[in-house]
Amino acid sequence: MSAAGAVATAGLKGVKRIDEFDLKDKRVFLRVDLNVPMSGGAISDDTRVRAALPTIKYAMEKGAKLVLASHLGRPESKEDRPRYSLEPVAARLGELLGIEVLLVDEPTSDAPKGLLPTLKPSQLVLLENVRFEPGESKNSREFAMTLASYTDIYINDAFGASHRAHATIDALPSLVEQKGIGFLIAKEIEMLDRLLHAPAAPYMAILGGAKVSDKIPVIENMINRVDAFLVGGAMAYTFLAAQGAATGASRVEKDKVAFAGEMLRRIEARGKRCLLPVDHVVTRDIKDTKDVRTTDSAQVPEGWLAVDIGPKTRELYRKELQRAKTVFWNGPMGVFETPEFSKGTFAIAETLSQLTDATTIVGGGDSAAAAEGSGYAGMMTHISTGGGASLEYLQGDKLPGLEVLRKRTPSSSPVISANKEA
Ligand code: 3PG
Repeated sequence: MSAAGAVATAGLKGVKRIDEFDLKDKRVFLRVDLNVPMSGGAISDDTRVRAALPTIKYAMEKGAKLVLASHLGRPESKEDRPRYSLEPVAARLGELLGIEVLLVDEPTSDAPKGLLPTLKPSQLVLLENVRFEPGESKNSREFAMTLASYTDIYINDAFGASHRAHATIDALPSLVEQKGIGFLIAKEIEMLDRLLHAPAAPYMAILGGAKVSDKIPVIENMINRVDAFLVGGAMAYTFLAAQGAATGASRVEKDKVAFAGEMLRRIEARGKRCLLPVDHVVTRDIKDTKDVRTTDSAQVPEGWLAVDIGPKTRELYRKELQRAKTVFWNGPMGVFETPEFSKGTFAIAETLSQLTDATTIVGGGDSAAAAEGSGYAGMMTHISTGGGASLEYLQGDKLPGLEVLRKRTPSSSPVISANKEA
């Protein structure tokens, strides 16, 4: 983290951080990403709630009247309330902070405005899942204007949602004059910038997960910076198919085989390496954990499905990674949620944990869950809280949630004028 008040990293140029504002008695609208995995109505991983705490605590210590907002899941309408309510998250936040969290059902009602003047220092307001409001995903200015009517300062700390041009990410800050980021986004961008600007060599990217198509832009953006790609997970079979290997019943994206072949040629033409699995753990059915075999080579026999990288590949990747000074990891090597198919993914996590003088950055989503599951999460330099957001940032896309904060809001904005009169 850079010195208080100064945002040094390139990606945050022109963006203010929360500690550059006077928060005392100000109504601070803090957008966070509390989109946590739920199971049977309970939070199954509270990493994102914990990641939001430093900014929340800071704002409360500085005397802000805090309104927190987040989405949870992708509800279709208000009918989905029982499944996607932030109620369990409100309870968890209250527990972690030792404060009272006042959950407001309707962000467009008079409730938030009514609560704020008498809010105690030990209380904060949390708006119910903003995606219950149709205006949120539509980036509605009208919805944003209602929120802006009780906002003096807008802070975005929802890194995981910053690639979405939604009302609480984009339309709302475009209406507010005083706006900036929280500590979580500052750290995320600082870390991802290490990969974009002069990463220490050798720089290696471990790419896995289901689809090549999800990774095309990031591969294309990284091709000139990365010294070696290490590929695993289902996407490896599209690359292997491009090399003419037998892939059995493994998932191959037929329409991406040509792209995969072209990528392999381009990587080689630049004198770089792309490592593919040389053996596999295979089964006949993804649910079958009994009849599981290991192939001798990269060929997957007819009727068999590859579900993890094999032991020779684990060793090959371990040796390669030991030379790395910078690593970006996105996507598991196999179906790591099933213990019998998790060895490849967990071996990657273990190897990264041993690279004490390298920068190791894990993209969010499945890879973050895999790093957690491996027990080595604490040994990584950084685990991003945003899967889609970190990939979009690394592939060179502008994040709407950051771009809007660089732009000045004209003080003639109707909302600002109304707030000034209030
Ligand atoms: C995520 O989980 O990646 C973020 O919370 C964004 O969620 P979304 O993909 O539903 O917009």
